[in-house]
Amino acid sequence: MHHFEYRDGTLFAEDVSITNLAREYGTPLYVYSAATFTRHFKAFDSAFDGLDHLTCYSVKANSNLSVLKLLAGLGAGMDIVSGGELFRALKAGVSPDKIVYSGVGKRAAEIREALDAGILWFNVESGAELLEIIEVARSVGKVARVSFRINPDVDPQTHPYISTGMKKNKFGLDIEHSLKAYAMCADLENIEPIGMDCHIGSQLTSIEPFKEALQKLLDFYGKLKDMGIDIKYLDLGGGLGITYDEEAPPHPTEFGQALKDMLADVPLKVILEPGRVIAGNSGILVTEVVYTKSNPSRNFLIVDAAMNDLVRPSLYGSYHRIAEVEPKGREAMLYDVVGPICESSDFLARERDLPAVEQGELLAVFSAGAYGFSMSSNYNSRPRACELLVDGEKVIVARKRETYDDLLDKEL
Ligand code: LLP
Repeated sequence: MHHFEYRDGTLFAEDVSITNLAREYGTPLYVYSAATFTRHFKAFDSAFDGLDHLTCYSVKANSNLSVLKLLAGLGAGMDIVSGGELFRALKAGVSPDKIVYSGVGKRAAEIREALDAGILWFNVESGAELLEIIEVARSVGKVARVSFRINPDVDPQTHPYISTGMKKNKFGLDIEHSLKAYAMCADLENIEPIGMDCHIGSQLTSIEPFKEALQKLLDFYGKLKDMGIDIKYLDLGGGLGITYDEEAPPHPTEFGQALKDMLADVPLKVILEPGRVIAGNSGILVTEVVYTKSNPSRNFLIVDAAMNDLVRPSLYGSYHRIAEVEPKGREAMLYDVVGPICESSDFLARERDLPAVEQGELLAVFSAGAYGFSMSSNYNSRPRACELLVDGEKVIVARKRETYDDLLDKEL
C-alpha cells in the first residue's frame, strides 16, 4: 500500500498534486511519501513483535538525509556499507549502537571511523578483513564487536546481479571458514564476536530461501555452542521483495511468522536489514515527455529522465510501472520509453503498452523509491534530479536539483 493515488483525474502524493510539484520543481523529479515510508517501516517492524529484534534500515536503498531522519525518528537502526553511509546515518541522528556495517571491502579509515563512532558491530566478510579490523582496533585501543557474514550457499531465486548468498558470490565466508574465524577470535584481543549474519539477496518473492538460510545458520549456531562460543545476535539481512509488476511477495507478517516459528526457543536477538520493502513503493520518479517519435519498427516516448536518474531498467532489465500523471483515456500503443542519454541501453521501459501521450505531458514511474536516486549519476553531464518528501500537504525539498555549477564543483 502506498499514498500515490489519483484524485479527480490527477495523480497525488498524499495531499499534493504531482502536476503542481512538477510545475514548481521541474522534472525529472523524485517524489517520496512520508506516510508510505512510515507505514512500510511500521508494518515491517511490527511483523516481528514477540521476537527480540532490531530493524536496521538498509541505507543504500534510499540514502536521502530527510528519509533517514524520518526512519531514525521511528526508531530504526541502520545497515551501512561505507564510511559515507556511516556519516549519513550519524547525521540523521541514529544511535551508533543501532548501526551494523557490512561490505566486502571496508578500508582501514572506514573501520576506524566506525570504531570511533561505537557502532554495534562489523559484519566481517573475510579473514583478511578480520585481521585489518583487529589491527585498527588495536591501534586505537578499542575492542571491535564483530559478526561473521556467513555465505549459506542458498539460491535466492532472484536476478543474478542481486544474488549474494551463493558459493560463487563474493560475499561472506563459507560455513567452514566461518567456524575457523570464530575459533580464531577466541585467542585474540581487541575483537569480540557477538553475532552471526547472512544476506542472501534482494527482491526475494518467496520465504523458502530465507528459511533455508536461517536453518543453516541455526545449525551453525549449534556448532558454535559445541565449541563453547557464545553469541548474542542473529542478523538475517534484507531482501524481502516488493510488487513492481505482478510479483506477489510475501507480506512482512508472513516473513515474521516464519521467523517466529523457527526462532521460538533460540535466545538470540534478531537483526533485520530491509531496504527495498521500506523504500521501493514510497517513491516515484516524475518525468516529462520531451518528444515522441516513430520509425517503421518502434514508437518512442523520449522523456527527460534517463538511465542516470534510474538505472534499474538498463542494468537489470527491471520493470517499473509507468502511467500518465493526468490520464486522458486514450487508446494504448506499444512504446519504448527512452531517455536523452547516448546509449541504446538508456530506457525506462521497452515494448510497453501506454496511452498515446503527447509532448509536454507528465509520466510517473512507480516503485522508484529504492535504488533509484541512490544509484543515480551525472552521466552525460546531467545534473541529478530534485528529491521531494511529501508529508500530508507539506513539501520538503529533501535534495535540491543539481546545477551546472555543481557538475564542475570538484574539478579544476
Ligand atoms: N543488507 C545487505 C548486506 C545488503 O547488501 C542489502 C542490499 C540489504 C541489506 C538490503 O536489501 P533489500 O532489502 O533492499 O533487498 N540495486 C539493486 C539491489 C541491490 C541490493 C544490494 N544489497 C536493485 O536495484 O534491485
